[in-house]
Amino acid sequence: MKFWHEVMAPTRRLMLATFSLILLWSFLMVAFIVDADNQRMFFDWTVSYAQRSPLGASKRVILINDQFPGPLLSATTNDVVDVNVHNNLAEPFLLTWNGLQQRRNSWQDGVQGTNCPIPPGQNWTYSFQLKDQIGSFFYFPSLLFQKAAGGYGAIRINNRPVIAIPFPAPLEEFDVLIGDWYNADYQDMRSLLDRGLPLPPQPDGILINGAGPHQTTFYFQPGATYRFRISNVGLKTTLNFRIQNHLMLLVETEGSYTLQQYYKTLDIHVGQSFSVLVTANQADGQSYYMVATSRFFIPELIGTAIIRYSGSPAEPIGFIPSGPAPMDYAYSIDQARSIRWDLAVGAARPNPQGSFHYGLINISRTIILQNDMASIDNHQRYTVNGVSFTHPDTPLKLADYFQLDSIFPVNSIPDAPDGQVPTLGISVLDATYRDFIHLVFQNTQPTMQHWHIDGYNFFVVGMDAGKWDESKRATYNMNDAVSRSTVQVYPNSWTAILIELDNQGMWNVRSQDHERWYLGQELYMRVKGTGDDDPSSISTRDEAPIPDNVIKCGRAGSAS
Ligand SMILES: *[C@@H]1O[C@H](CO)[C@@H](O)[C@H](O)[C@H]1NC(C)=O
Ligand SMILES: *[C@@H]1O[C@H](CO)[C@@H](O)[C@H](O)[C@H]1NC(C)=O
Repeated sequence: MKFWHEVMAPTRRLMLATFSLILLWSFLMVAFIVDADNQRMFFDWTVSYAQRSPLGASKRVILINDQFPGPLLSATTNDVVDVNVHNNLAEPFLLTWNGLQQRRNSWQDGVQGTNCPIPPGQNWTYSFQLKDQIGSFFYFPSLLFQKAAGGYGAIRINNRPVIAIPFPAPLEEFDVLIGDWYNADYQDMRSLLDRGLPLPPQPDGILINGAGPHQTTFYFQPGATYRFRISNVGLKTTLNFRIQNHLMLLVETEGSYTLQQYYKTLDIHVGQSFSVLVTANQADGQSYYMVATSRFFIPELIGTAIIRYSGSPAEPIGFIPSGPAPMDYAYSIDQARSIRWDLAVGAARPNPQGSFHYGLINISRTIILQNDMASIDNHQRYTVNGVSFTHPDTPLKLADYFQLDSIFPVNSIPDAPDGQVPTLGISVLDATYRDFIHLVFQNTQPTMQHWHIDGYNFFVVGMDAGKWDESKRATYNMNDAVSRSTVQVYPNSWTAILIELDNQGMWNVRSQDHERWYLGQELYMRVKGTGDDDPSSISTRDEAPIPDNVIKCGRAGSAS
């Protein structure tokens, strides 16, 4: 802007400065007014046990406000949400928010490495802003294998009114939580794992919204269009989702609007969320099956619900529609590659999603995370780059904050598998704010793997069979890869992602397979800004302060 300085007379410069100030002021006012629109929402949730028998066998289930699944958390981008959780279980409890980015606020993430648990009989209030996010997500209990007893529920983050949704408003939205289910008590399952024994390899069935086959009904009006927000909340099983005689228009995955394409069936991996639009294009007087079937093992497990048009009989006619063959991996990987980001639409902000050209950003670091299974001290464990995570007595986030150096290991996991003998350890990957990281998940097992990163969405640029090497980069989608927070890795295959580290905090990177997570397949990624060690630096890059109501435990119990 040198040119302007040279030609402008001083008075003109002053006028321009005044004008800029006025402009800035009006901008701030608008920002303030928009901000004033953000609601503060209060939820009061009581967590308790009850006996339920979704598959016929009675089982102890975790309810929230007497509901299974728990209540819907529905809010709008930038809303501030307070959730007061009353723990009426006989053991500690935490909820985590699968896919919520908790921007700069890993204090609210609700996993064992960030929060002390809510003790039995007590309550604690989460407080977080749904900053710059839209989309479909879910919450679940993160401790003590409690997810096997339910306790999960759906989350919707709706568009702010100023940002158009890239499709006509549906008549109604439905949350559909699908997942595998074991009839065994979750504490018995946990005790098997604690003794170093595996769970029965196959679950007992598939639930849709906490219910067994045929137990849930959705009502359709002919001609209307509905949005289904479907999440796989199960422990380990990929599910194929479909609706008899109806196509699904895929529109969103975990907060990203996708290129809109029709699918007859969709593979939904553990921890993933999809939104589809379904038009009631069948005649009145008939009912149809909604189906979720297990993938990649035989015999197939089948979960069903009913779509009922007005005046229809309760029972659908005909057979349950079939999906892909259970062992057809090619179908699944082809479909995964067909899911693309819609570059042209806005999501949480008015600018198009594609205005962030991830393909042009220089990669600052490549990390290869290889998952393995290992026997350590005669216990079955799961590892990442040779390390099976064990939790110290103090959550890492608190240990870091209170500088309890003896707990807090730095860079304790190698950037690539180095052939070390599998060990138990505390894996913390130190990463620099604003770095742009290339992460390869290498699956050496003959079974599916699912990875999730808290605090982030990432671009799924490639996946294929075999071992990853540098030559695979040439195959990456560097233009419109989908952005999401949970990704599958096929058996003996790799998946590559790109991630911009724009969110400071202590973030859990975990296998979404609950058994593997429980047995050590996770790590934490600490994202710190360069100015963080200077306590006087207050900038937008800083993390949210430690919450006033923080629960202290372990060696943080006496820290201040
Ligand atoms: C516990 O719940 C009560 C109201 O039920 C509330 O006033 C209090 O702030 C809650 N405590 C915490 C730590 O959130
Ligand atoms: C990427 O790196 C190259 C070479 O170091 C540099 O010329 C270019 O400006 C960088 N691009 C960005 C977007 O930083």
